[in-house]
Amino acid sequence: MITGTGAEPVIQLFHVHKRYGSQTAINDINLTVTKNDFVFITGPSGAGKTTLLRLLFLQEAVSEGQILVNGINLQRIRRAKIPLFRRSMGFVFQDFRLINSYTVYENIALVLETTGQDIRHIRKKVPHVLRMVGLEDRIHAYPPRLSGGEQQRVAIARAAVSNPFILLADELTGNLDTDAADMVFGLLRQLHSRGTTIIVATHDSRLFDKARARIVFLNQGRLEGETKS
Ligand SMILES: Nc1ncnc2c1ncn2[C@@H]1O[C@H](COP(=O)(O)OP(=O)(O)O)[C@@H](O)[C@H]1O
Ligand SMILES: [Mg+2]
Repeated sequence: MITGTGAEPVIQLFHVHKRYGSQTAINDINLTVTKNDFVFITGPSGAGKTTLLRLLFLQEAVSEGQILVNGINLQRIRRAKIPLFRRSMGFVFQDFRLINSYTVYENIALVLETTGQDIRHIRKKVPHVLRMVGLEDRIHAYPPRLSGGEQQRVAIARAAVSNPFILLADELTGNLDTDAADMVFGLLRQLHSRGTTIIVATHDSRLFDKARARIVFLNQGRLEGETKS
């Protein structure tokens, strides 16, 4: 197996299975992701990509096997600690999941408010991340007024605002045209160059040329192989 350059494992999967009734979504996966890796999880629709991300984000529990994130065994994490655990990660959803009745500013500020950050910090930090994604002029706009690419950039800003050590993204360019996808993808590369570990689930192989990354192939829930771009 090709592993990343850094030696420090941030995510380890040991014989992970996930079943939904008689349906097996993840079938005996072993995988190690090291600090500052850039990993594409790819494979056809139904391969288990989204399920794998959901297991890492603790939106689902494994049926069998073990997942360690930063050495923490996800099966042992207490329910009350799950929100805190999730806030240490950023998750970018394919469908953005912004709150349409909140402005761009409010959508991002919410993340910091829930972690109890003070208002002066929030007022500085939100424009700062919006500058990073090139949307500082849309700070008071409501998401429905933004294009798909802009909404996805807001979603990335929201995921990045709490300086997560790892960013998970599910089909993040799935709904975007090529130019918007390139821009969104460039943002991930920027976060990666600042030390964030990035895991992107995608069936879009065009993205692979755009970063030096590990490419992990899933098929019918199994890890079928790995290569480097
Ligand atoms: N909540 C669920 N309930 C039942 N089956 C599910 C659920 N989520 C995923 N699956 C099944 O698990 C398999 C993998 O799905 P998914 O992880 O969404 O694949 P991908 O993201 O690669 O398209 C599919 O067969 C899907 O139907
Ligand atoms: Mg999916």
